[in-house]
Amino acid sequence: MPTYDFTGRVAFVTGGSAGMGAATVRAFAEAGAAVAIVDLDGDTAQRHARQLNDAGHRALGIGCDVSDEQQLQNAVARTVQTFGGLDMAFNNAGIMLPPVDTAEESAEAFDTIVAVNLRGVWASMKHELAQMREQGSGAIVNCSSLGGLVGGSGRATYHATKHGVLGQTKSAALQYGPLGIRVNAVCPGTIDTPMVARMTAGGELDPEAALAAIPMGRLGRPEEIAAAVLWLASDAASYVTGVALPVDAGYTAQ
Ligand SMILES: NC(=O)c1ccc[n+]([C@@H]2O[C@H](COP(=O)([O-])OP(=O)(O)OC[C@H]3O[C@@H](n4cnc5c(N)ncnc54)[C@H](O)[C@@H]3O)[C@@H](O)[C@H]2O)c1
Repeated sequence: MPTYDFTGRVAFVTGGSAGMGAATVRAFAEAGAAVAIVDLDGDTAQRHARQLNDAGHRALGIGCDVSDEQQLQNAVARTVQTFGGLDMAFNNAGIMLPPVDTAEESAEAFDTIVAVNLRGVWASMKHELAQMREQGSGAIVNCSSLGGLVGGSGRATYHATKHGVLGQTKSAALQYGPLGIRVNAVCPGTIDTPMVARMTAGGELDPEAALAAIPMGRLGRPEEIAAAVLWLASDAASYVTGVALPVDAGYTAQ
Protein backbone atom coordinates (compact mmCIF):
# COMPACT_ATOMS: atom_id res chain seq x y z
CA MET A 1 0.00 0.00 0.00
CA PRO A 2 1.48 3.41 -0.91
CA THR A 3 1.80 5.69 2.09
CA TYR A 4 0.18 9.08 2.50
CA ASP A 5 0.65 11.68 5.18
CA PHE A 6 -2.80 12.86 6.25
CA THR A 7 -1.58 14.28 9.56
CA GLY A 8 -3.88 17.12 10.63
CA ARG A 9 -6.65 16.06 8.22
CA VAL A 10 -10.08 14.72 9.08
CA ALA A 11 -11.80 11.82 7.31
CA PHE A 12 -15.46 10.73 7.47
CA VAL A 13 -16.37 7.17 6.43
CA THR A 14 -19.96 5.95 6.21
CA GLY A 15 -20.49 2.22 6.53
CA GLY A 16 -17.15 2.30 8.35
CA SER A 17 -17.83 -0.60 10.74
CA ALA A 18 -17.35 -3.45 8.24
CA GLY A 19 -16.02 -4.46 4.84
CA MET A 20 -14.35 -1.92 2.63
CA GLY A 21 -15.46 0.95 4.89
CA ALA A 22 -13.62 -0.57 7.86
CA ALA A 23 -10.51 -1.15 5.73
CA THR A 24 -10.62 2.48 4.59
CA VAL A 25 -11.01 3.70 8.19
CA ARG A 26 -7.86 1.76 9.15
CA ALA A 27 -5.93 3.07 6.15
CA PHE A 28 -6.91 6.69 6.85
CA ALA A 29 -5.97 6.31 10.54
CA GLU A 30 -2.63 4.69 9.72
CA ALA A 31 -1.90 7.58 7.34
CA GLY A 32 -2.37 10.00 10.25
CA ALA A 33 -5.91 11.29 9.67
CA ALA A 34 -8.47 11.68 12.44
CA VAL A 35 -11.38 9.46 11.37
CA ALA A 36 -15.11 9.47 12.03
CA ILE A 37 -16.53 5.93 11.74
CA VAL A 38 -20.18 6.44 10.82
CA ASP A 39 -22.38 3.35 10.73
CA LEU A 40 -25.81 1.95 11.45
CA ASP A 41 -23.92 -0.46 13.71
CA GLY A 42 -22.85 2.20 16.19
CA ASP A 43 -21.56 -0.30 18.78
CA THR A 44 -19.01 -1.71 16.34
CA ALA A 45 -18.10 1.81 15.17
CA GLN A 46 -17.42 2.80 18.78
CA ARG A 47 -15.46 -0.38 19.49
CA HIS A 48 -13.25 0.17 16.43
CA ALA A 49 -12.77 3.81 17.44
CA ARG A 50 -11.64 2.74 20.94
CA GLN A 51 -9.16 0.26 19.43
CA LEU A 52 -7.75 2.91 17.11
CA ASN A 53 -7.50 5.47 19.92
CA ASP A 54 -5.77 2.88 22.15
CA ALA A 55 -3.26 2.34 19.33
CA GLY A 56 -2.48 6.08 19.27
CA HIS A 57 -4.73 7.14 16.37
CA ARG A 58 -7.62 9.60 16.52
CA ALA A 59 -11.06 8.13 15.87
CA LEU A 60 -14.71 8.74 16.72
CA GLY A 61 -17.46 6.12 16.39
CA ILE A 62 -20.92 7.44 15.50
CA GLY A 63 -24.13 5.43 15.21
CA CYS A 64 -26.00 6.80 12.18
CA ASP A 65 -28.49 5.68 9.55
CA VAL A 66 -27.39 7.45 6.37
CA SER A 67 -30.94 7.34 5.01
CA ASP A 68 -31.97 9.77 7.78
CA GLU A 69 -30.77 13.24 6.81
CA GLN A 70 -30.96 14.58 10.36
CA GLN A 71 -28.74 11.78 11.71
CA LEU A 72 -26.27 12.40 8.91
CA GLN A 73 -26.24 16.15 9.57
CA ASN A 74 -25.60 15.47 13.27
CA ALA A 75 -22.76 13.06 12.42
CA VAL A 76 -21.03 15.66 10.24
CA ALA A 77 -21.52 18.32 12.95
CA ARG A 78 -20.07 16.03 15.67
CA THR A 79 -17.07 15.25 13.47
CA VAL A 80 -16.38 18.93 12.84
CA GLN A 81 -16.86 19.78 16.55
CA THR A 82 -14.53 16.96 17.65
CA PHE A 83 -11.78 17.24 15.07
CA GLY A 84 -12.10 20.85 13.83
CA GLY A 85 -13.04 20.28 10.19
CA LEU A 86 -13.79 17.78 7.44
CA ASP A 87 -11.27 17.20 4.67
CA MET A 88 -12.04 13.78 3.16
CA ALA A 89 -15.17 11.65 2.99
CA PHE A 90 -15.85 8.12 1.76
CA ASN A 91 -19.61 7.77 1.27
CA ASN A 92 -19.62 4.01 1.28
CA ALA A 93 -22.68 2.76 3.22
CA GLY A 94 -24.82 0.67 0.91
CA ILE A 95 -27.09 -2.35 0.87
CA MET A 96 -28.12 -5.05 -1.55
CA LEU A 97 -31.28 -7.16 -1.33
CA PRO A 98 -31.66 -10.64 -2.84
CA PRO A 99 -32.17 -10.69 -6.63
CA VAL A 100 -35.75 -10.41 -7.81
CA ASP A 101 -37.69 -10.63 -11.05
CA THR A 102 -38.12 -7.03 -12.22
CA ALA A 103 -41.78 -7.78 -12.91
CA GLU A 104 -42.30 -8.69 -9.26
CA GLU A 105 -40.17 -6.38 -7.11
CA SER A 106 -42.13 -4.69 -4.31
CA ALA A 107 -42.22 -0.92 -3.96
CA GLU A 108 -40.95 -1.42 -0.39
CA ALA A 109 -37.81 -3.17 -1.65
CA PHE A 110 -37.25 -0.40 -4.20
CA ASP A 111 -37.66 2.31 -1.52
CA THR A 112 -35.40 0.49 0.96
CA ILE A 113 -32.47 0.25 -1.47
CA VAL A 114 -32.90 3.78 -2.80
CA ALA A 115 -33.12 5.21 0.74
CA VAL A 116 -29.67 3.92 1.69
CA ASN A 117 -27.73 3.80 -1.57
CA LEU A 118 -28.96 6.98 -3.25
CA ARG A 119 -30.60 9.17 -0.60
CA GLY A 120 -27.74 8.26 1.77
CA VAL A 121 -25.14 9.56 -0.67
CA TRP A 122 -27.34 12.63 -1.33
CA ALA A 123 -27.54 13.46 2.39
CA SER A 124 -23.85 12.72 2.93
CA MET A 125 -22.67 14.94 0.09
CA LYS A 126 -25.12 17.70 1.04
CA HIS A 127 -23.76 18.11 4.57
CA GLU A 128 -20.14 17.37 3.74
CA LEU A 129 -20.14 19.92 0.91
CA ALA A 130 -21.72 22.57 3.14
CA GLN A 131 -18.74 22.21 5.51
CA MET A 132 -16.13 21.90 2.75
CA ARG A 133 -17.55 24.98 0.99
CA GLU A 134 -16.87 26.99 4.14
CA GLN A 135 -13.32 25.64 4.31
CA GLY A 136 -12.71 26.09 0.56
CA SER A 137 -11.22 22.60 0.26
CA GLY A 138 -12.07 18.92 0.48
CA ALA A 139 -12.24 15.64 -1.39
CA ILE A 140 -15.21 13.28 -1.52
CA VAL A 141 -15.18 9.69 -2.78
CA ASN A 142 -18.55 8.03 -3.32
CA CYS A 143 -18.93 4.26 -3.44
CA SER A 144 -20.62 3.16 -6.63
CA SER A 145 -19.99 -0.35 -7.99
CA LEU A 146 -19.35 -2.23 -11.19
CA GLY A 147 -23.16 -2.10 -10.96
CA GLY A 148 -22.86 1.64 -11.71
CA LEU A 149 -21.33 0.82 -15.08
CA VAL A 150 -23.18 -2.29 -16.26
CA GLY A 151 -26.52 -3.97 -15.61
CA GLY A 152 -27.17 -7.05 -13.51
CA SER A 153 -30.01 -9.49 -14.07
CA GLY A 154 -32.39 -9.41 -11.10
CA ARG A 155 -30.70 -6.35 -9.61
CA ALA A 156 -32.27 -3.47 -11.52
CA THR A 157 -32.83 -1.30 -8.46
CA TYR A 158 -29.38 -1.83 -6.93
CA HIS A 159 -27.77 -1.07 -10.29
CA ALA A 160 -30.03 1.98 -10.74
CA THR A 161 -28.82 3.39 -7.42
CA LYS A 162 -25.19 2.75 -8.30
CA HIS A 163 -25.64 4.41 -11.74
CA GLY A 164 -27.34 7.24 -9.83
CA VAL A 165 -24.35 7.66 -7.53
CA LEU A 166 -22.25 8.38 -10.63
CA GLY A 167 -24.71 11.10 -11.68
CA GLN A 168 -24.49 12.63 -8.22
CA THR A 169 -20.69 12.41 -8.31
CA LYS A 170 -20.22 13.98 -11.74
CA SER A 171 -22.73 16.78 -11.13
CA ALA A 172 -21.25 17.74 -7.75
CA ALA A 173 -17.74 17.58 -9.26
CA LEU A 174 -18.74 20.14 -11.91
CA GLN A 175 -20.33 22.46 -9.37
CA TYR A 176 -17.62 22.25 -6.71
CA GLY A 177 -14.47 21.99 -8.86
CA PRO A 178 -14.16 25.77 -9.09
CA LEU A 179 -14.31 25.92 -5.27
CA GLY A 180 -11.33 23.59 -4.82
CA ILE A 181 -13.39 20.55 -3.84
CA ARG A 182 -13.03 17.27 -5.76
CA VAL A 183 -15.74 14.60 -6.00
CA ASN A 184 -15.01 11.15 -7.41
CA ALA A 185 -16.39 7.62 -7.26
CA VAL A 186 -14.93 4.15 -6.97
CA CYS A 187 -16.64 1.27 -8.74
CA PRO A 188 -15.56 -1.88 -6.88
CA GLY A 189 -15.77 -5.30 -8.47
CA THR A 190 -16.55 -8.32 -6.30
CA ILE A 191 -14.77 -7.74 -3.00
CA ASP A 192 -14.36 -10.19 -0.14
CA THR A 193 -16.51 -8.43 2.50
CA PRO A 194 -19.33 -9.50 4.85
CA MET A 195 -21.80 -8.42 2.12
CA VAL A 196 -20.34 -10.92 -0.36
CA ALA A 197 -20.04 -13.59 2.35
CA ARG A 198 -23.79 -13.15 3.04
CA MET A 199 -24.57 -13.41 -0.68
CA THR A 200 -22.51 -16.61 -0.96
CA ALA A 201 -24.07 -18.12 2.17
CA GLY A 202 -27.55 -17.24 0.91
CA GLY A 203 -26.95 -18.93 -2.44
CA GLU A 204 -27.18 -15.61 -4.33
CA LEU A 205 -23.59 -15.79 -5.51
CA ASP A 206 -21.99 -18.91 -6.94
CA PRO A 207 -18.30 -18.52 -6.01
CA GLU A 208 -17.05 -20.56 -8.97
CA ALA A 209 -19.10 -18.61 -11.51
CA ALA A 210 -18.11 -15.33 -9.85
CA LEU A 211 -14.41 -16.13 -10.10
CA ALA A 212 -14.77 -17.28 -13.72
CA ALA A 213 -16.23 -13.85 -14.60
CA ILE A 214 -13.30 -11.94 -13.07
CA PRO A 215 -10.39 -11.53 -15.50
CA MET A 216 -7.82 -11.61 -12.69
CA GLY A 217 -9.47 -14.75 -11.31
CA ARG A 218 -9.84 -13.72 -7.68
CA LEU A 219 -12.01 -11.61 -5.39
CA GLY A 220 -10.74 -8.21 -4.37
CA ARG A 221 -9.59 -7.42 -0.86
CA PRO A 222 -11.20 -4.54 1.06
CA GLU A 223 -7.72 -2.99 1.39
CA GLU A 224 -7.53 -2.75 -2.42
CA ILE A 225 -10.59 -0.49 -2.39
CA ALA A 226 -9.14 1.51 0.51
CA ALA A 227 -5.97 2.07 -1.55
CA ALA A 228 -8.01 3.58 -4.41
CA VAL A 229 -10.05 5.72 -2.02
CA LEU A 230 -6.96 7.11 -0.31
CA TRP A 231 -5.39 7.95 -3.66
CA LEU A 232 -8.53 9.77 -4.85
CA ALA A 233 -8.77 11.62 -1.50
CA SER A 234 -5.10 12.61 -1.54
CA ASP A 235 -3.25 15.48 -3.20
CA ALA A 236 -1.72 12.86 -5.53
CA ALA A 237 -5.09 13.03 -7.33
CA SER A 238 -5.22 16.86 -7.29
CA TYR A 239 -6.24 17.05 -11.00
CA VAL A 240 -8.80 14.24 -10.81
CA THR A 241 -12.47 14.99 -10.35
CA GLY A 242 -15.76 13.57 -11.61
CA VAL A 243 -14.33 10.14 -12.41
CA ALA A 244 -15.91 6.72 -11.93
CA LEU A 245 -12.84 4.58 -11.19
CA PRO A 246 -13.34 0.85 -11.69
CA VAL A 247 -11.39 -1.22 -9.17
CA ASP A 248 -12.63 -4.53 -10.49
CA ALA A 249 -9.76 -6.67 -11.82
CA GLY A 250 -10.85 -5.88 -15.37
CA TYR A 251 -14.50 -6.95 -15.03
CA THR A 252 -15.93 -3.91 -16.83
CA ALA A 253 -13.19 -4.00 -19.48
CA GLN A 254 -14.76 -7.17 -20.93
N1 LIG B 1 -18.61 -6.19 -1.65
C1 LIG B 1 -18.71 -5.98 -2.94
O1 LIG B 1 -18.41 -6.88 -3.75
C2 LIG B 1 -19.18 -4.66 -3.48
C3 LIG B 1 -19.00 -4.42 -4.84
C4 LIG B 1 -19.36 -3.19 -5.36
C5 LIG B 1 -19.87 -2.22 -4.53
N2 LIG B 1 -20.06 -2.48 -3.21
C6 LIG B 1 -20.56 -1.39 -2.37
O2 LIG B 1 -19.56 -1.07 -1.43
C7 LIG B 1 -20.17 -0.56 -0.25
C8 LIG B 1 -19.66 -1.34 0.94
O3 LIG B 1 -19.91 -2.69 0.71
P1 LIG B 1 -19.36 -3.86 1.67
O4 LIG B 1 -19.28 -5.05 0.81
O5 LIG B 1 -18.18 -3.38 2.43
O6 LIG B 1 -20.65 -3.99 2.62
P2 LIG B 1 -20.84 -4.67 4.05
O7 LIG B 1 -22.27 -5.07 4.12
O8 LIG B 1 -19.80 -5.70 4.27
O9 LIG B 1 -20.61 -3.43 5.03
C9 LIG B 1 -21.45 -2.31 4.92
C10 LIG B 1 -21.44 -1.48 6.17
O10 LIG B 1 -22.41 -0.44 5.95
C11 LIG B 1 -23.25 -0.34 7.09
N3 LIG B 1 -24.57 0.17 6.72
C12 LIG B 1 -25.55 -0.49 6.07
N4 LIG B 1 -26.65 0.29 5.97
C13 LIG B 1 -26.36 1.47 6.56
C14 LIG B 1 -27.07 2.66 6.79
N5 LIG B 1 -28.34 2.80 6.42
N6 LIG B 1 -26.45 3.68 7.44
C15 LIG B 1 -25.17 3.55 7.86
N7 LIG B 1 -24.44 2.43 7.69
C16 LIG B 1 -25.03 1.40 7.04
C17 LIG B 1 -23.29 -1.76 7.66
O11 LIG B 1 -23.67 -1.75 9.03
C18 LIG B 1 -21.87 -2.24 7.42
O12 LIG B 1 -21.03 -1.88 8.50
C19 LIG B 1 -21.67 -0.63 -0.50
O13 LIG B 1 -22.12 0.62 -0.95
C20 LIG B 1 -21.79 -1.69 -1.58
O14 LIG B 1 -22.96 -1.51 -2.33
C21 LIG B 1 -19.72 -3.69 -2.66
